Amino acid sequence: MHPRIIAAIVFWLLILGLVVYLIRKKPYEAFSSNTHNNLGKWLFYGFIAYLPISIAGLVFLNKRADPIFNIFLGLTFSIGVTLLVWAVYYLINDLFHGIGRAARFFTTGASARTPNKGRRRFVRQLGIGMAAIPFFSFLYGITKGKYDFTVRNVKLKFADLPKAFHGMRIVQISDVHSGSFDDVEEVKRGIAMIQAQSPDLILFTGDFVNQKAEETDAYIPSWNALSAPMGKYSVLGNHDYGFFGSFDSEEALKKNQEEVKKRYANAGFTLLNNANVKLEKGGESIRLIGVENWGKPPFPQFGDLEKATADVDDNEFKLLMSHDPTHWDMHVLDFPKLIHLTMSGHTHGMQMGIDIPWLKLSLVKFVYPRWIDLYKEGQRHLYVNRGFGWLGMPARVGIFPEITVFELSSAEV
Ligand SMILES: [Fe+2]
Ligand SMILES: [Fe+2]
Repeated sequence: MHPRIIAAIVFWLLILGLVVYLIRKKPYEAFSSNTHNNLGKWLFYGFIAYLPISIAGLVFLNKRADPIFNIFLGLTFSIGVTLLVWAVYYLINDLFHGIGRAARFFTTGASARTPNKGRRRFVRQLGIGMAAIPFFSFLYGITKGKYDFTVRNVKLKFADLPKAFHGMRIVQISDVHSGSFDDVEEVKRGIAMIQAQSPDLILFTGDFVNQKAEETDAYIPSWNALSAPMGKYSVLGNHDYGFFGSFDSEEALKKNQEEVKKRYANAGFTLLNNANVKLEKGGESIRLIGVENWGKPPFPQFGDLEKATADVDDNEFKLLMSHDPTHWDMHVLDFPKLIHLTMSGHTHGMQMGIDIPWLKLSLVKFVYPRWIDLYKEGQRHLYVNRGFGWLGMPARVGIFPEITVFELSSAEV
């Protein structure tokens, strides 16, 4: 049997085991043990029943970018994660309870304890509280959160930034994933927020599409209307190559790749495919470099920093757009020419996690150690943007869509 099939069977058996375990805990008896007339019991079983029904329905409908479908799918994630958190809560509770019993057994020899109804009720009530946190966070994430565009201001000071560029405002967006959107007006509102930041330069660090070029069509005029005095530039993300799409032939795939590039141009962005451009102001200049996607396998590694900087002097101030932050650790950090600021995206912050000033947490950090915000090594900076859209799960839970505004300052001024 194929290892992926075995992994899928183990996964679903594990989920089934957790659900059965949770049912046996009767969490609905938190407020009343009168199970004949217990609204909580019916709500709880409604939750459990929703999962197989929705999964079957989603497979049958298979209709992405549809608001109803997305709410349906979002609820599947909401309820699935809620049940998982609830079951894990009971597992932890049982673990501590077991440790307590073992300790009592070895110290007093008593193995059993008289059941404590009050304690059990308290455990159930606390469990409902714990389960409510992911449930309501997801409810927000699948309705409002996914369009809750957040402007993040990042002030950076560089000793060698030419002083004509002091105060320069760069707006970075990333990971638009046009094919996921289900509300054109909300997307337009987000795009308008970019212009409202008075950018000198607008940069888009890839993943314009999920798979196909046509996904972008409804939004092209809005993207095209954006303007900045120093221009609009972009790089390709792993999704822009169409490798995740279902194309009939190699030729169709190649055609789609060309169409995606055309869409970037139609949106007013100049693609820097292993290339650079000199940005000039007040008789001084800086370099903006862009590389093709360079990612962790299985993602493509077409980025060629050597080629992109062939005509760049080491003493020039350099900005780099590179979709996948892995590239920074693998090539940019030890690249002989100093790259002052690299802008990436790709991680989406996993669209789920904790993102408050003093605590940033998401499972994605185990795959991408540099997964959010600013990193600095010596004079080299990396910024990882959370993304503008979403992929897969039609939600943003705790990690909201981002518009980054960099304000550069020169130490010379
Ligand atoms: Fe992406
Ligand atoms: Fe990506």
